[in-house]
Amino acid sequence: MNRKTIIAVSSFKGGTAKTSTALHFGSALAKYHSKKVLLVDFDAQANLTTGLGFDPDEHDSMASVLQGKKTFEEVVKHTGFTGLDLVPADTWLERVEVTGALAADRYSHERLRDILLPLDYDVVLIDTPPSLCWLTESALIASQYTLVCTTPEFYSVKGLERLSEFMESIAQRHPLSVLAVVLSFWNARGKSNDAFMDVIERTFPSKLLESKVRRDISVSEASVYGKPIFEVSPKSRAAEDYLLMTEEILKRF
Ligand SMILES: Nc1ncnc2c1ncn2[C@@H]1O[C@H](COP(=O)(O)OP(=O)(O)OP(=O)(O)O)[C@@H](O)[C@H]1O
Ligand SMILES: [Mg+2]
Repeated sequence: MNRKTIIAVSSFKGGTAKTSTALHFGSALAKYHSKKVLLVDFDAQANLTTGLGFDPDEHDSMASVLQGKKTFEEVVKHTGFTGLDLVPADTWLERVEVTGALAADRYSHERLRDILLPLDYDVVLIDTPPSLCWLTESALIASQYTLVCTTPEFYSVKGLERLSEFMESIAQRHPLSVLAVVLSFWNARGKSNDAFMDVIERTFPSKLLESKVRRDISVSEASVYGKPIFEVSPKSRAAEDYLLMTEEILKRF
Protein backbone atom coordinates (compact mmCIF):
# COMPACT_ATOMS: atom_id res chain seq x y z
CA MET A 1 0.00 0.00 0.00
CA ASN A 2 1.55 3.26 -1.14
CA ARG A 3 1.49 6.39 0.89
CA LYS A 4 -1.60 7.66 0.68
CA THR A 5 -4.44 5.50 -0.57
CA ILE A 6 -7.91 7.03 -0.97
CA ILE A 7 -10.79 4.56 -1.12
CA ALA A 8 -14.51 5.23 -1.60
CA VAL A 9 -16.86 2.67 -0.06
CA SER A 10 -19.82 2.51 -2.41
CA SER A 11 -22.81 0.59 -3.74
CA PHE A 12 -25.50 3.14 -4.85
CA LYS A 13 -27.91 1.10 -2.72
CA GLY A 14 -29.22 1.22 0.83
CA GLY A 15 -28.34 -1.25 3.55
CA THR A 16 -25.36 -3.00 1.93
CA ALA A 17 -23.11 -2.46 4.99
CA LYS A 18 -21.11 0.40 3.44
CA THR A 19 -20.87 2.27 6.73
CA SER A 20 -20.04 -0.84 8.78
CA THR A 21 -17.38 -1.81 6.21
CA ALA A 22 -15.78 1.66 6.23
CA LEU A 23 -15.78 1.72 10.03
CA HIS A 24 -14.32 -1.74 10.54
CA PHE A 25 -11.86 -1.79 7.67
CA GLY A 26 -10.61 1.60 8.87
CA SER A 27 -10.46 0.64 12.48
CA ALA A 28 -8.73 -2.70 11.75
CA LEU A 29 -6.09 -0.88 9.66
CA ALA A 30 -5.43 1.52 12.54
CA LYS A 31 -5.59 -0.98 15.41
CA TYR A 32 -3.92 -4.06 13.95
CA HIS A 33 -1.83 -2.71 11.07
CA SER A 34 -0.56 0.57 12.60
CA LYS A 35 -1.91 2.67 9.73
CA LYS A 36 -2.82 6.32 10.08
CA VAL A 37 -6.44 6.35 8.90
CA LEU A 38 -8.94 9.10 8.09
CA LEU A 39 -12.63 8.22 7.86
CA VAL A 40 -14.75 10.74 5.95
CA ASP A 41 -18.48 10.50 6.64
CA PHE A 42 -19.88 11.74 3.32
CA ASP A 43 -23.51 10.78 3.95
CA ALA A 44 -26.01 13.16 5.57
CA GLN A 45 -27.48 10.21 7.49
CA ALA A 46 -24.27 10.44 9.55
CA ASN A 47 -24.26 6.79 10.60
CA LEU A 48 -20.48 6.56 10.58
CA THR A 49 -20.32 9.64 12.81
CA THR A 50 -22.83 8.18 15.27
CA GLY A 51 -21.12 4.79 15.06
CA LEU A 52 -17.96 6.39 16.46
CA GLY A 53 -19.82 8.08 19.29
CA PHE A 54 -20.06 11.61 17.86
CA ASP A 55 -23.26 13.67 17.75
CA PRO A 56 -23.72 14.90 14.14
CA ASP A 57 -25.62 17.99 15.31
CA GLU A 58 -22.66 19.24 17.31
CA HIS A 59 -19.91 19.26 14.70
CA ASP A 60 -19.06 20.72 11.32
CA SER A 61 -18.83 18.36 8.38
CA MET A 62 -16.96 18.29 5.07
CA ALA A 63 -19.78 20.57 3.81
CA SER A 64 -18.15 23.54 5.59
CA VAL A 65 -14.76 22.73 4.06
CA LEU A 66 -16.24 22.27 0.58
CA GLN A 67 -17.94 25.65 0.94
CA GLY A 68 -14.66 27.25 1.98
CA LYS A 69 -16.01 28.28 5.41
CA LYS A 70 -13.74 26.04 7.50
CA THR A 71 -10.39 24.37 6.98
CA PHE A 72 -9.90 20.61 7.14
CA GLU A 73 -7.96 21.03 10.40
CA GLU A 74 -10.96 22.78 11.95
CA VAL A 75 -13.39 19.94 11.23
CA VAL A 76 -11.31 16.77 11.70
CA LYS A 77 -11.85 14.90 14.98
CA HIS A 78 -9.54 12.49 16.72
CA THR A 79 -11.61 9.49 17.71
CA GLY A 80 -10.67 7.88 21.01
CA PHE A 81 -8.87 5.17 19.01
CA THR A 82 -5.19 5.33 18.07
CA GLY A 83 -4.54 6.19 14.43
CA LEU A 84 -8.20 6.81 13.62
CA ASP A 85 -9.50 10.29 12.69
CA LEU A 86 -12.98 11.26 11.50
CA VAL A 87 -14.55 14.05 9.53
CA PRO A 88 -18.15 13.90 10.80
CA ALA A 89 -21.27 14.32 8.66
CA ASP A 90 -24.20 16.65 9.22
CA THR A 91 -27.43 17.44 7.41
CA TRP A 92 -25.74 20.25 5.42
CA LEU A 93 -24.12 17.61 3.24
CA GLU A 94 -27.52 16.96 1.67
CA ARG A 95 -27.70 19.16 -1.43
CA VAL A 96 -24.40 20.87 -0.56
CA GLU A 97 -23.70 21.12 -4.29
CA VAL A 98 -26.59 23.53 -4.91
CA THR A 99 -25.70 25.89 -2.06
CA GLY A 100 -23.24 28.75 -1.63
CA ALA A 101 -19.91 28.68 -3.41
CA LEU A 102 -20.49 25.24 -4.92
CA ALA A 103 -23.63 26.16 -6.89
CA ALA A 104 -21.71 28.27 -9.39
CA ASP A 105 -18.66 25.99 -9.60
CA ARG A 106 -18.56 23.85 -12.76
CA TYR A 107 -15.76 21.81 -11.20
CA SER A 108 -17.39 21.32 -7.80
CA HIS A 109 -16.98 17.55 -8.21
CA GLU A 110 -13.25 17.92 -7.87
CA ARG A 111 -13.24 19.90 -4.63
CA LEU A 112 -13.21 16.89 -2.31
CA ARG A 113 -10.20 15.46 -4.16
CA ASP A 114 -8.35 18.77 -3.81
CA ILE A 115 -9.05 18.83 -0.05
CA LEU A 116 -7.91 15.23 0.53
CA LEU A 117 -4.83 15.11 -1.70
CA PRO A 118 -2.43 17.13 0.49
CA LEU A 119 -3.36 15.36 3.76
CA ASP A 120 -0.92 13.20 5.69
CA TYR A 121 -2.64 9.80 6.13
CA ASP A 122 -1.82 6.27 5.02
CA VAL A 123 -5.43 5.54 4.12
CA VAL A 124 -8.50 7.75 3.61
CA LEU A 125 -11.86 5.94 3.52
CA ILE A 126 -14.94 7.80 2.28
CA ASP A 127 -18.37 6.46 3.27
CA THR A 128 -20.92 7.32 0.57
CA PRO A 129 -24.74 7.71 0.55
CA PRO A 130 -27.00 4.96 -0.83
CA SER A 131 -27.53 6.62 -4.22
CA LEU A 132 -25.69 7.95 -7.21
CA CYS A 133 -25.71 11.59 -6.20
CA TRP A 134 -23.21 14.46 -6.25
CA LEU A 135 -21.64 13.23 -3.00
CA THR A 136 -21.05 9.71 -4.34
CA GLU A 137 -19.65 10.99 -7.63
CA SER A 138 -17.32 13.40 -5.82
CA ALA A 139 -16.13 10.58 -3.55
CA LEU A 140 -15.34 8.37 -6.56
CA ILE A 141 -13.50 11.19 -8.32
CA ALA A 142 -11.44 11.82 -5.18
CA SER A 143 -10.48 8.13 -4.88
CA GLN A 144 -7.94 5.85 -6.53
CA TYR A 145 -9.95 2.81 -5.48
CA THR A 146 -13.45 1.80 -4.61
CA LEU A 147 -14.57 -0.93 -2.27
CA VAL A 148 -17.90 -2.24 -3.57
CA CYS A 149 -20.39 -3.44 -0.95
CA THR A 150 -23.13 -5.92 -1.68
CA THR A 151 -25.39 -8.44 0.03
CA PRO A 152 -26.55 -11.94 -0.95
CA GLU A 153 -29.86 -10.71 -2.40
CA PHE A 154 -31.07 -10.59 -5.98
CA TYR A 155 -31.62 -6.82 -6.27
CA SER A 156 -28.35 -6.11 -4.55
CA VAL A 157 -26.14 -8.13 -6.91
CA LYS A 158 -28.24 -7.10 -9.92
CA GLY A 159 -27.58 -3.43 -9.06
CA LEU A 160 -23.84 -4.03 -9.43
CA GLU A 161 -24.13 -3.91 -13.22
CA ARG A 162 -25.23 -0.29 -13.11
CA LEU A 163 -22.52 0.49 -10.60
CA SER A 164 -19.90 -1.08 -12.85
CA GLU A 165 -21.01 0.98 -15.86
CA PHE A 166 -20.87 4.16 -13.83
CA MET A 167 -17.40 3.35 -12.46
CA GLU A 168 -16.17 2.80 -16.00
CA SER A 169 -17.48 6.19 -17.08
CA ILE A 170 -15.67 7.85 -14.15
CA ALA A 171 -12.50 5.85 -14.82
CA GLN A 172 -12.32 7.32 -18.33
CA ARG A 173 -11.81 10.76 -16.78
CA HIS A 174 -10.11 9.97 -13.44
CA PRO A 175 -7.91 7.07 -12.37
CA LEU A 176 -10.23 4.77 -10.43
CA SER A 177 -10.21 1.01 -10.00
CA VAL A 178 -12.29 -1.50 -8.10
CA LEU A 179 -10.21 -2.75 -5.18
CA ALA A 180 -12.57 -5.51 -4.07
CA VAL A 181 -16.19 -6.56 -3.67
CA VAL A 182 -17.27 -7.18 -0.06
CA LEU A 183 -20.23 -9.48 0.64
CA SER A 184 -21.90 -8.77 4.00
CA PHE A 185 -24.87 -10.38 5.79
CA TRP A 186 -23.40 -13.68 4.61
CA ASN A 187 -25.13 -16.95 5.40
CA ALA A 188 -22.98 -19.88 4.31
CA ARG A 189 -26.08 -22.04 3.87
CA GLY A 190 -27.96 -19.62 1.60
CA LYS A 191 -29.58 -21.58 -1.26
CA SER A 192 -28.79 -19.03 -3.99
CA ASN A 193 -25.22 -18.22 -2.94
CA ASP A 194 -23.65 -19.73 -6.06
CA ALA A 195 -25.98 -17.78 -8.34
CA PHE A 196 -25.18 -14.51 -6.53
CA MET A 197 -21.44 -15.16 -6.69
CA ASP A 198 -21.73 -15.88 -10.42
CA VAL A 199 -23.35 -12.50 -11.04
CA ILE A 200 -20.63 -10.76 -9.01
CA GLU A 201 -17.87 -12.64 -10.85
CA ARG A 202 -19.35 -11.68 -14.23
CA THR A 203 -19.68 -8.03 -13.26
CA PHE A 204 -16.39 -7.61 -11.39
CA PRO A 205 -14.10 -10.52 -12.42
CA SER A 206 -11.83 -11.78 -9.59
CA LYS A 207 -12.76 -8.89 -7.29
CA LEU A 208 -14.98 -10.76 -4.81
CA LEU A 209 -13.17 -11.33 -1.52
CA GLU A 210 -12.82 -14.86 -0.21
CA SER A 211 -13.58 -13.60 3.30
CA LYS A 212 -17.24 -12.67 3.65
CA VAL A 213 -18.81 -10.85 6.58
CA ARG A 214 -21.35 -13.10 8.24
CA ARG A 215 -24.64 -11.80 9.60
CA ASP A 216 -23.96 -11.01 13.24
CA ILE A 217 -26.01 -8.94 15.68
CA SER A 218 -22.72 -7.75 17.27
CA VAL A 219 -22.32 -5.28 14.37
CA SER A 220 -25.43 -3.27 15.26
CA GLU A 221 -24.82 -3.73 19.00
CA ALA A 222 -21.39 -2.10 18.67
CA SER A 223 -22.89 0.96 16.97
CA VAL A 224 -25.15 1.48 20.00
CA TYR A 225 -21.97 1.89 22.07
CA GLY A 226 -20.45 4.22 19.46
CA LYS A 227 -17.40 1.99 19.12
CA PRO A 228 -15.92 -0.39 16.55
CA ILE A 229 -16.76 -4.06 17.08
CA PHE A 230 -13.11 -4.79 18.01
CA GLU A 231 -13.61 -2.75 21.20
CA VAL A 232 -17.04 -4.15 22.12
CA SER A 233 -17.07 -7.78 20.90
CA PRO A 234 -13.56 -8.67 19.74
CA LYS A 235 -14.36 -12.40 19.78
CA SER A 236 -17.51 -12.13 17.66
CA ARG A 237 -17.87 -13.74 14.22
CA ALA A 238 -18.08 -10.35 12.51
CA ALA A 239 -14.90 -9.11 14.25
CA GLU A 240 -13.11 -12.21 12.98
CA ASP A 241 -14.51 -11.71 9.46
CA TYR A 242 -13.54 -8.03 9.33
CA LEU A 243 -9.98 -8.89 10.37
CA LEU A 244 -9.65 -11.52 7.63
CA MET A 245 -11.23 -9.14 5.13
CA THR A 246 -8.67 -6.44 6.02
CA GLU A 247 -5.73 -8.83 5.61
CA GLU A 248 -7.06 -10.02 2.28
CA ILE A 249 -7.50 -6.46 0.99
CA LEU A 250 -3.98 -5.49 2.13
CA LYS A 251 -2.57 -8.40 0.12
CA ARG A 252 -4.11 -6.90 -3.03
CA PHE A 253 -1.72 -3.95 -2.97
N1 LIG B 1 -22.65 -8.38 9.14
C1 LIG B 1 -23.72 -7.79 9.69
N2 LIG B 1 -24.58 -8.53 10.44
C2 LIG B 1 -25.68 -7.98 11.00
N3 LIG B 1 -26.01 -6.69 10.90
C3 LIG B 1 -25.19 -5.89 10.17
C4 LIG B 1 -24.03 -6.40 9.51
N4 LIG B 1 -23.43 -5.38 8.85
C5 LIG B 1 -24.18 -4.29 9.07
N5 LIG B 1 -25.24 -4.57 9.87
C6 LIG B 1 -26.32 -3.67 10.32
O1 LIG B 1 -27.18 -3.46 9.21
C7 LIG B 1 -27.59 -2.09 9.15
C8 LIG B 1 -27.13 -1.47 7.83
O2 LIG B 1 -25.70 -1.49 7.80
P1 LIG B 1 -24.91 -0.21 7.33
O3 LIG B 1 -25.44 1.01 7.98
O4 LIG B 1 -23.47 -0.51 7.47
O5 LIG B 1 -25.30 -0.22 5.79
P2 LIG B 1 -25.18 0.98 4.74
O6 LIG B 1 -24.98 0.36 3.40
O7 LIG B 1 -24.17 1.96 5.17
O8 LIG B 1 -26.62 1.63 4.84
P3 LIG B 1 -27.09 3.02 4.15
O9 LIG B 1 -27.28 2.69 2.72
O10 LIG B 1 -28.33 3.40 4.86
O11 LIG B 1 -25.98 3.99 4.36
C9 LIG B 1 -26.98 -1.42 10.37
O12 LIG B 1 -27.92 -1.42 11.40
C10 LIG B 1 -25.79 -2.30 10.73
O13 LIG B 1 -25.50 -2.26 12.11
MG1 LIG C 1 -24.33 4.02 5.40
